Amino acid sequence: MLIRRARRFTSNEITDAKLYLSRREWMIGAALLTLLPGESGAATPQGQPLGATRNEALSLREPATKFEAATTYNNFYEFGVNKDDPARLAHTLTPRPWTVQVDGLVHKPKTYDIDELLRLSPLEERVYALRCVEGWSMVVPWIGVPLASLLRRVEPTGQAKYVEFTTLLDPRQFPGQRAGFFGSTLDWPYTEGLRLDEALHPLTLLTVGMYGQVLPNQNGAPIRVVVPWKYGFKSAKSIVRIRLTREQPPTAWNKAAPQEYGFYSNVNPAVDHPRWSQATERRIGEFRRRPTLPFNGYADQVAHLYAGMDLRKLY
Ligand code: MTE
Repeated sequence: MLIRRARRFTSNEITDAKLYLSRREWMIGAALLTLLPGESGAATPQGQPLGATRNEALSLREPATKFEAATTYNNFYEFGVNKDDPARLAHTLTPRPWTVQVDGLVHKPKTYDIDELLRLSPLEERVYALRCVEGWSMVVPWIGVPLASLLRRVEPTGQAKYVEFTTLLDPRQFPGQRAGFFGSTLDWPYTEGLRLDEALHPLTLLTVGMYGQVLPNQNGAPIRVVVPWKYGFKSAKSIVRIRLTREQPPTAWNKAAPQEYGFYSNVNPAVDHPRWSQATERRIGEFRRRPTLPFNGYADQVAHLYAGMDLRKLY
């Protein structure tokens, strides 16, 4: 990730999670949920309310980062390398119609329409911390379904060990994918991957919304993954393919700078990135830095997945 000067957000740009949607908007959202686009025939534009039930057990008790900050301070290199490029340019992305091909080592490969994915299981809201390897973090109320609910449907074979996520490749919609685009650094399309047990972990969220709304384009519409105990770059945006594999899949940042970005990339305050200390972080909207927690605060739930691994190594 390139070094860019971060925009400073002040404390008044932070909003209480309970306040970002009024009761009335929640009711509209809930009503819309029963009228999902596939059924109504209408497109689902970003910004439309999206109802979901808060999963309290898996949600942080912290105020959410202000919506305005979470949607204007983004990393989405398909739109450029500056934090405000995605918000400025993401109108060129068309999130409907959209399909996600789920294949590879599965018994029931299938190409899902986005609206079918929305109906896989009841939408949940989860308030997670998102920690970027650049040393900033946010608290975001995401909306989605456990990735496991999709993976179980396609029935991974006994040989499947990893899951690869691929972002849309379309230079007409993503200026950053055009040849010669200034700052274009990655080998497109953006790909990421998880081990199958990480992908099946209950915290791993297939995400279609945030802050009670359909996912804004700059945050990875219409569908992304969110893996809260890993650095943010593991959470691939605008996914068109989910493939189960036997071998560890190559990933975009690891290919670009293997000495800087590993496959696992669990948040770890004890292991610095060559350019950024990981010991502390700054929540967007706060002034002071705070200590970074192992596994981004989710150690109780995920540390067992890495038993026996030397976590100081860049895998
Ligand atoms: N996915 C794609 N396709 N392209 C990207 O550039 N950036 C990653 C991740 N997913 C990225 C991506 C990084 S570095 C981070 S920190 C998060 O998205 C940022 O998510 P946000 O903009 O919703 O906060």
